[in-house]
Amino acid sequence: MTTVAPVALRRKVELTIDGEAVTAHEGTTVLEACRAAGIEVPTLCYLETLAPVNVCRVCVVEVEGSRALVPSCSRPVAPGMVVRTGTDRVRTSRRMVLELLASSVDLSTAGGDVHRWIEEYEAQPDRHGPAAGPTVRDGAHAGHHEAPEVGLAATVAQTVKRDNNQYVRDYAKCILCYKCVEACGEEAQNTFAIAVAGRGFDARISTEFDVGLPDSACVYCGNCIAVCPTGALMFVSEHDLRARDEWDEDRQTVTRTVCPYCGVGCNLELHVQDNRIVKVTSPLDHDVTSGNLCVKGRFGFEFAQGDGQ
Ligand code: SF4
Ligand code: SF4
Ligand code: FES
Repeated sequence: MTTVAPVALRRKVELTIDGEAVTAHEGTTVLEACRAAGIEVPTLCYLETLAPVNVCRVCVVEVEGSRALVPSCSRPVAPGMVVRTGTDRVRTSRRMVLELLASSVDLSTAGGDVHRWIEEYEAQPDRHGPAAGPTVRDGAHAGHHEAPEVGLAATVAQTVKRDNNQYVRDYAKCILCYKCVEACGEEAQNTFAIAVAGRGFDARISTEFDVGLPDSACVYCGNCIAVCPTGALMFVSEHDLRARDEWDEDRQTVTRTVCPYCGVGCNLELHVQDNRIVKVTSPLDHDVTSGNLCVKGRFGFEFAQGDGQ
C-alpha cells in the first residue's frame, strides 16, 4: 500500500504594509512579507538558514498597537496587522544601530549593503569621536568596566587571532550577530566550539577559556566563516591576499561543482583568482547542505593546485 505524506496546509493572512494590502502565508515573518512585497528591510543578524536571534535590531518596523518597535525578522504576520517600514521612528532607530556599530567595529570588509545602508540612513559614526585604541577584551574581568576615554569612540579592536592554517579570526570586525555561534551549535554543526563570553561592551565571541582553535572543540568545518557578515572570520588565503592588497573579486570566477570526497553530494562554489582556489563556499539554497560543509569540502582544495602534499 502506498503511503501518502500529509500536505501541510497554511492559511493565508491579510495585512497592510506601508498602506498596501498584502497577503502572506500563516507563519511567514514580517520580513519575508516585506521582501515579497518588494520592500527592502536591512538585516544583519538574520540569515534564512538560521533561526532568528533578534540581536542587531536593524530590521525593526512599526506595528500598529505595539508600543515598542518590532524586529521584523522574527515577528510572524498576523491577520489585520498594520506595518510601517519607513517612518521617522524606524529610520532613527536603524540609523542609531548602524552608527553605533560603525563607530565601534571595523566594517571595512563587511558586505556592500552595509555601507549603502550607512549612507541611506545618514548614519554618522564619526560624530562619536576618533576611535579609541585596541582593548584587551579576552579575559576581561566579568562585571568590571573600564571608564571610557573621554572624546574617543570605544571600539572592539583587538589583536587578530591566527592560530591555524585554515582561517583567521579578527574580532575587531565582529558585530556580535551570533550567526557563527548558531552555525557552530545547534543550527548546523552541533560542535559548540564557540560562544559569547563576557557582558555588555566586553561581550565577545570566544572558544572555551579563550584557548586557541587547535586546542578547542573546533572541527574546522568553516560553517562559521560562511555565515559571518563582516569578514571577522576569513580564510587564511583571503586574509593574506587582502593584506598584500591583491584580493580582487573582479578577477575571480565562481564555479559550482560537487564535492569529490564522499557520496553526500555537497555542492561547492570554488572562488578562483589567478588560477588558484582562494576560498570555497556552498550555496545557501542547496537542499543537502544549506550552505554548510565539512572540513574536507571547505578546506581540502590544496591537492587540486599541487599544495599541501
Ligand atoms: S570551523 Fe566549524 S567547528 Fe570550528 S568554530 Fe567554526 S563552525 Fe565551529
Ligand atoms: S564573528 Fe562574524 S558571525 Fe560571529 S558574531 Fe562576529 S560578526 Fe557575527
Ligand atoms: S536582522 Fe532582525 S534583529 Fe537582526
